[in-house]
Amino acid sequence: MNPLSVHAVVLAAGRSKRFKTTKSKLLFSICGRPMVLYPIKALASLNIPVTVVLGNQAEQVKTAIEQKKDAASVDYVIQEEQRGTGHALACSQPMWDGKDILIINGDCPLISSDLIAQTIKEHTEKNATITFLTALMIDPSGYGRVYEEEGAVRIIEEKDCSSEELRISRINVGVYIMRRDFLEKNIGAIQASNAARELYLVDLVKMASDQNLTVHTISVPFDEVRGVNTLQELWSVEQIKRSELIRHWMSEGVQFELAQNTHIDIDVTIGAGSFIGTSILLLGNTTIGKNCFVGAFSILENTTLGDNSVIHSHTVVQDSTIGSDCNVGPFARLRNNVTTGNNVTIGNFVEIKKSTINEESSIKHLSYIGDTTMGKEVNVGAGTITCNYDGTKKHQTVICDNAFVGSNNTIIAPVTIGQGAFTAAGSTITHDVPANSLAIARSQQVNKAAYAEKLLAKKK
Ligand code: UD1
Ligand code: CA
Repeated sequence: MNPLSVHAVVLAAGRSKRFKTTKSKLLFSICGRPMVLYPIKALASLNIPVTVVLGNQAEQVKTAIEQKKDAASVDYVIQEEQRGTGHALACSQPMWDGKDILIINGDCPLISSDLIAQTIKEHTEKNATITFLTALMIDPSGYGRVYEEEGAVRIIEEKDCSSEELRISRINVGVYIMRRDFLEKNIGAIQASNAARELYLVDLVKMASDQNLTVHTISVPFDEVRGVNTLQELWSVEQIKRSELIRHWMSEGVQFELAQNTHIDIDVTIGAGSFIGTSILLLGNTTIGKNCFVGAFSILENTTLGDNSVIHSHTVVQDSTIGSDCNVGPFARLRNNVTTGNNVTIGNFVEIKKSTINEESSIKHLSYIGDTTMGKEVNVGAGTITCNYDGTKKHQTVICDNAFVGSNNTIIAPVTIGQGAFTAAGSTITHDVPANSLAIARSQQVNKAAYAEKLLAKKK
């Protein structure tokens, strides 16, 4: 179904020459989402079907869209050779459906669904043939200039501007809606008679205007529609997106210690009453509960944090789930699917990988725990290492409820430490420890009486 009778085309085939990178600019992330997905998601939320024009790095761009597009109805056409935006639009013609075709440059990530809806509404109300967005800029360089005088409208690309036209401060944003019947009649007439020898989509505006058809322009704030042609512009756009996200979470009751130094991805959520310290990266699908504290210089990526938990400074947590009322860090690292219960303590210089730590357990100092299932109320002493790798395979360690692992233990997996068992400090545990027993696995101390005197004598 196409309720608005609008079909959208997103132009994403370009070569990204001004990025000077081998990777297409459309794949670059803005707050954790590839640039090209922003207009697609905005269109999806309005139930507008989309055709994406692919060309440069077509497979990679398509994969990036398919991975995260949600429910949008998206199909694709290929522009084999990038001959300009007019040519890109022409390539999408076989897919056109509906009365109007909405065209959005793939490098316009800040466009909102509200603005798209307003554009469609005004276009319909004015019964226009073309409606397009413009913005006023103090420095319009790089953009097409919008010339409008006595009802005549056209867009002049910078390379084709006279010195007088260069001073025009109204720019073309790169978002248009055009009557499909007009397009069908006129798209074939676009010519590459310009400085770049490209087929320019913007020439359609002059054609409509010359035919005395209604061309309607909507002036919008530049910051809502900034284009991204360079890495510097990518940075500017991400700054805007990031501060929009931070302002949103502030309005939801989240306190930021130094908001300007914090990065939040678009899919992150944070519960009310939480505190986010300075220089923190919250990445991917991270969910922070209520009343949490995240200390300075920490990174949380694809991580879920329960309520009232504290992440002390300089902690890195990836792809993990931490319960409520937990304490982690400072200087801790959790990665590759760690799950903890509630009230767990993971202290400084502790690394945990692919392990489950059940409630009330604590590993407070200088340890490595990998491929381990740890029960409830376990205490792991300082400097304990699970030796999970024999050089070929990874092996599991099981530490049952209420066990007490002494300091400086080397636990050689596969091995199980039974419920309520103790291991003596400095032990190298190679065999299972039965429940409620004490394992001592270290060499016996030998004291040699008066031996110090002999040693001193040798030195003389
Ligand atoms: C375009 C407009 C310019 C406007 C600016 C707004 C034209 C001729 N000019 O210029 O008036 O001010 O956007 O940002 O349209 N693309 C293709 N195939 C191609 C060429 C481009 O799919 O052959 C895609 C690009 O991937 C990009 C979009 O079209 O997503 C715009 O192309 P770009 O080269 O960035 O156009 P601008 O020079 O910025
Ligand atoms: Ca552009």
